[in-house]
Amino acid sequence: MILEKVIREIETVVGRENILTSPEDRWCYAFDATDLAYLPDLVVFPGSAAEVSRILLLANEHRFPVTPRGAGTGRSGGSVPIEGGVVLVLTRLNRILEINTKDLVAVVEPGVILGKLKAAVEEQGLYYPPDPASADFCTIGGNVAECAGGPVAVQYGITRDYVLGLEVALPTGEIIDTGTRTMKGVVGYDLTRLFLGSEGTLGVITRIILRLVAKPAARQTLAAAFGSLKAAAEAVSRILASGLAPTALEFIDRVTLGCIREMLPFAVDLKAAALLLIAVDGHPHDVEERAGAMARFCEEQGARPVIRARTPEEAEQLWKARKVISPALKKVKPQKVSEDVVVPLSAIPDLITALEDLSRRRGLIIPCYGHAGDGNIHVNVLYDRALPGEMEAVEPTVEEIFTLVRRFQGTLSGEHGIGLTKAPYLGMELSPAAIAVQKRLKQAFDPNNIMNPGKIFPQPPKARAREQEGI
Ligand code: LAC
Ligand code: ZN
Repeated sequence: MILEKVIREIETVVGRENILTSPEDRWCYAFDATDLAYLPDLVVFPGSAAEVSRILLLANEHRFPVTPRGAGTGRSGGSVPIEGGVVLVLTRLNRILEINTKDLVAVVEPGVILGKLKAAVEEQGLYYPPDPASADFCTIGGNVAECAGGPVAVQYGITRDYVLGLEVALPTGEIIDTGTRTMKGVVGYDLTRLFLGSEGTLGVITRIILRLVAKPAARQTLAAAFGSLKAAAEAVSRILASGLAPTALEFIDRVTLGCIREMLPFAVDLKAAALLLIAVDGHPHDVEERAGAMARFCEEQGARPVIRARTPEEAEQLWKARKVISPALKKVKPQKVSEDVVVPLSAIPDLITALEDLSRRRGLIIPCYGHAGDGNIHVNVLYDRALPGEMEAVEPTVEEIFTLVRRFQGTLSGEHGIGLTKAPYLGMELSPAAIAVQKRLKQAFDPNNIMNPGKIFPQPPKARAREQEGI
């Protein structure tokens, strides 16, 4: 609970019109893209870094938690205010301050919608590559806080690879700059990287300096259908080793395909067990040839048919279908847990085979799709909470998935972060000493644990709750 007099103080910082107090308004900021929801005591929309800093100082003085949030599209509960307190919504900080075509940098506030930023950059003939599926509605600040990825990471890398510097309001109230606006910089510790993927636990990002690259002159997209999951998975590392340099290399299994089939710009044989969706960027004169070579290579790997998007509209339609996969899977079952594990490329076929076996043993539908070119597979455990036994089977299944992934020397999360949902499993990847050093870092930044408490580190007892009563 936040005392009435403290709410009045917050009001003097941001203005009465920039706080929400009624339960029905506060519930709107209780969620992210998981099924989790925790009601904040207060929702605050700061208008500047200085206001953020003043709220953090108040939080330290009165010991209430602060959970920063962008558009709430996160997939691990990172912006869900598990301990109540203030949800700090950064959507008013939504200015693109600079797009510099000579320095190849952009300076932006955290609340800018990623899709708008990408479009503004492309208007200037440049490109900001990271393209998570939620690009049309997620914020760049959330992308930085969770270190978002997306399909074109195969060629261009992820959010981390484009953030040159940050302005951050620390939990103790100071506002600091990290990094540079130059392409290189090794002065002091790399705090920029520390904040990348820190899930709002170390500070509030109030400004971001991004590196831009040249806009690709042309892109070709193709879809390769495979008769078996294993054949598609085996083709992935061969394509990457072929020298044909895909920009994106996505994998879609049969159940997933069924959910988006009617959105595809062409018919795909119902017998297809898996689809690889491939993009190739380059100059118009050579991209054509490379896409042709890619199609032939996929055929050599057993793909039938390989379909090339004939027009930019067809390609766009294909990528649109890819982007809606996550919500489309709810056609099969009303609830799902979406994981974002990563395994070494050579382990993808074995992981997929093991997941098929797990699905049979547990009696749960476990569709897989995602960024195969990075070994980053979205493993989805579908369930219906109304069906006896299904919900109870989910958590042990997730645990088995993580056990498998660790056996393959993989990682629990490639792009969605640990947040709340994976916190109980942190110890499956990090040693006690590694967790202890991370906790000491957290303590150094946030001595009173006001910043997004209850995230990343396992809470005793298991604080994981997929659903809250009464929602
Ligand atoms: C995707 C999101 C879920 O790739 O990361 O669809
Ligand atoms: Zn993804």
